[in-house]
Amino acid sequence: MPTPLIQTRDANLELMSGTNMLHILKDINLSVNPAEVVAIVGPSGSGKTSLLMVLAGLERATSGDIVVAGENLGDFNEDQLAIFRRKSLGILFQNFHLVTSMSALENVALALEIAETGLPLKEIRDISAAALNEVGLGDRLNHQPRALSGGEQQRVGLARAMVSKPRLLLADEPTGNLDQDTGALVIELMFDLARKQETAVILITHDRVLAERADRTLVMNRGQLSEKTQEVSL
Ligand SMILES: Nc1ncnc2c1ncn2[C@@H]1O[C@H](COP(=O)(O)OP(=O)(O)OP(=O)(O)O)[C@@H](O)[C@H]1O
Ligand SMILES: [Mg+2]
Repeated sequence: MPTPLIQTRDANLELMSGTNMLHILKDINLSVNPAEVVAIVGPSGSGKTSLLMVLAGLERATSGDIVVAGENLGDFNEDQLAIFRRKSLGILFQNFHLVTSMSALENVALALEIAETGLPLKEIRDISAAALNEVGLGDRLNHQPRALSGGEQQRVGLARAMVSKPRLLLADEPTGNLDQDTGALVIELMFDLARKQETAVILITHDRVLAERADRTLVMNRGQLSEKTQEVSL
């Protein structure tokens, strides 16, 4: 067995909402191998995004352990968590989150600049252009997001998430704002890149067809994560 890339042990997330304590994640025991592609499905409000937040160190588990790439995130201070995110994580959101005043190339280059690779600017631009080329946008380098379609914007998002060759890609409904065919194309590209770069992927999706493309599907229900079984209706 390979050493897992993600290993959580009885991870819980409780948050105060007014005077109520909400138990959002309940005893999560998740193990994901390097380069494994895992889909997470489940009803709205069940805790899927919260789980990604905890895995990204954007939210701290209230109890239990979150170990990613051999590091226990609970041992990190905020600065160390930020460095961990820049170096080890790619994140892909539903709403693309591109910088509107920057070109496609600048958006991707920004991710490499933030990762503090020490690469010279020229090389950063070349690598970013190559990443955009890989997602089929080699002729859109200088377009700003508003001059790109939704599918093209998400492909820029994908190039940005993958350009620093992260070990883990966290994708939160990345096709939620795209039509079915465009969404399927983006997911295809995402899986291709992940396979090439040996990146593990956690994909949250409401789309059962897309979920079936993953190595494994897990179901989140009221903060509890379980293996997909026949009885669970999505
Ligand atoms: N910062 C917060 N403070 C209080 N409650 C929160 C906070 N963030 C999330 N929640 C609650 O935690 C629960 C899980 O939310 P989460 O966003 O993880 O669900 P989800 O499965 O991603 O849903 P969706 O499919 O709609 O995106 C919800 O009941 C939500 O209201
Ligand atoms: Mg969500």
